[in-house]
Amino acid sequence: MKMHKSIGLAGLAAVFMTFSAVAATKYTGEGGVELDVPYVPTPQELVDRMLKLANVGPDDIHYDLGSGDGRIVVTAARDMKVKKGVGVDLDPVRIAEANENAKKAGVTDRVTFKQADLFQMNFSEASVMTMYLLPEVNLKLRPKILDEMKPGSRIVTHAFTMGDWQPDKHEVVDSRNIYLFIDPAKVAGAWTWQVGNETYKADLKQQYQMASGTLTLPNGKQVPIESPVLAGPNITFAATVPGAAAPLRFSGKVNGNTIDAAMDVAGKSTKVTAKKSS
Ligand SMILES: C[S@@+](CC[C@H](N)C(=O)[O-])C[C@H]1O[C@@H](n2cnc3c(N)ncnc32)[C@H](O)[C@@H]1O
Repeated sequence: MKMHKSIGLAGLAAVFMTFSAVAATKYTGEGGVELDVPYVPTPQELVDRMLKLANVGPDDIHYDLGSGDGRIVVTAARDMKVKKGVGVDLDPVRIAEANENAKKAGVTDRVTFKQADLFQMNFSEASVMTMYLLPEVNLKLRPKILDEMKPGSRIVTHAFTMGDWQPDKHEVVDSRNIYLFIDPAKVAGAWTWQVGNETYKADLKQQYQMASGTLTLPNGKQVPIESPVLAGPNITFAATVPGAAAPLRFSGKVNGNTIDAAMDVAGKSTKVTAKKSS
């Protein structure tokens, strides 16, 4: 359904409350284009807090999906000195404003605004993403974000979550919600590694950053994986080895189908490389 709508200060939450029952609502932008989300700017104080929540800095490549007048991209380049900023918006009026604002802030050497559909963008180079969109748009973007962004990349949303992907952090600023999500490595599957001629096997399940599973010890005994933490590319867990004085501890960095890790068992720390077999 196509809607012409003027949006007041109540923000996208009010738009969502009004139109949540209407499937695939479209909005007409000032430049006459059909949009998935109407233009509502994020207040500057919240822009600053969103970038702070993601700990944005000079090593980052930042994308803002639906960049409006460019304020988040311009702020990240001017104040956080990101090495590259990219804003994408379908509305040519917003793109013109964003380019003007980048010029005023003196950051045109590091920022680009593209007039494009955000669903057509490739996110693989972005280390930080900001989004002030609608819930169904966030959900539609979620698989693309998880597939294309590197583990450890940060995503900050204003107002809306990512469905059952739980945020790693949540802040409320002036009654508005902002959420931080850290892209988790893909760890689901069977991993094996050797210590000398002893073989360990971990069967891991995963729901976003929540991991669980079973460890098979060299003697064939299976024990539950305890206290698993998946933080971007890093995974740690413990396991109780029957008869051992201290728990086994595994701490590694995932790189595709390999985990380079340290495993502490029976008071000895060993460097291991786990390989994914399924
Ligand atoms: C709520 S505003 C957010 C603006 C800016 N990110 C901010 O927080 O101030 C959403 C923006 O998304 C743009 N937009 C909507 N649908 C889009 C699409 N499919 N592709 C690219 N931009 C889109 C709109 O033109 C609008 O500027």
